[in-house]
Amino acid sequence: MHQPVLLQATIQNLVTDRHGTYVDCTVGGGGHLSLLLDHLAPDARVIGIDKDADTLNNTKVKLNADNLTLVKSDFRQLDKVLYDLEIIHVDGIMIDLGVSSFQLDISERGFSFHDDARLDMRMNREQKLSAWEIVNCWTESEITRILFEYGEESHARSISNAIVKSRHQQPINTTLELAEIIKEAVPARYRREKHPARKSFQAIRIAVNEELEALREVLPQAVAALKVGGRLCVISFHSLEDRIVKQFLLDQTRQCKCPPDFPVCICGCRPPLKLVHRKPIIPTDEEIAVNPRARSAKLRVAERI
Ligand SMILES: C[S@@+](CC[C@H](N)C(=O)[O-])C[C@H]1O[C@@H](n2cnc3c(N)ncnc32)[C@H](O)[C@@H]1O
Repeated sequence: MHQPVLLQATIQNLVTDRHGTYVDCTVGGGGHLSLLLDHLAPDARVIGIDKDADTLNNTKVKLNADNLTLVKSDFRQLDKVLYDLEIIHVDGIMIDLGVSSFQLDISERGFSFHDDARLDMRMNREQKLSAWEIVNCWTESEITRILFEYGEESHARSISNAIVKSRHQQPINTTLELAEIIKEAVPARYRREKHPARKSFQAIRIAVNEELEALREVLPQAVAALKVGGRLCVISFHSLEDRIVKQFLLDQTRQCKCPPDFPVCICGCRPPLKLVHRKPIIPTDEEIAVNPRARSAKLRVAERI
């Protein structure tokens, strides 16, 4: 079962008007969505987006509210989703990044290095690119790049070299085959720390689902869709995601964009956002104890001005 991370803090920060319109860009198991619906008046409207049809169908069965519209879409199409629903502005938008436990726990989805399954890792199972293509068809240098950039894997070169050598013998079809190749490619001391395939699996998953590109694309759309006073809440789980959110918010909350050596401001810039909390909200030790997935979570909240 998926345990929502920073649940209370997210909904408390998100809701500024109980009668307003809200978007949950990452429905997942519906944990945040459910509490959001509880907080809102019956005349409020909620739009839930997820690109995983299985997840969405699963949640649809659990959450049946008249004021909820669930849409199967990539959140990088937020503009289009709102346009199709004839919604111009909303009071709050939340994004809870990454995969859900629902996706991780179903071994056939191929996200986990603990369970044997065909290499897949697609959140949207209608898309063509899967982990299998990356592992079996991408060049060694492309694999090195994603392991390094998206997994911050210091053994990226030796892992990608081992992958390419192995696939010359026969295709790498399953998660456990890949995990074993990675394990053999890294020094013994590295194997004793966390699971040696952890960073590579993260990197491949991010590449398959274009997670960072999607995040970069949705943020400006979210700002444009917010009413004045509306809030954007983003929960990230690793430094790559958080860096994008932090940089974006820094840029959107900066008053003046003149070069620092200008004696007076000539740009007249008015920032579209202000930060609600200067620092990100992080889980308490109690939350981490019951939900270790919360360990690296950071919630950043900004308000449209
Ligand atoms: C961490 S889970 C969300 C959990 C949810 N907040 C809950 O409480 O159950 C992330 C969800 O976002 C979805 N997702 C990730 N990237 C997406 C994207 N670009 N567009 C739409 N959905 C996405 C995943 O399919 C997954 O179901």
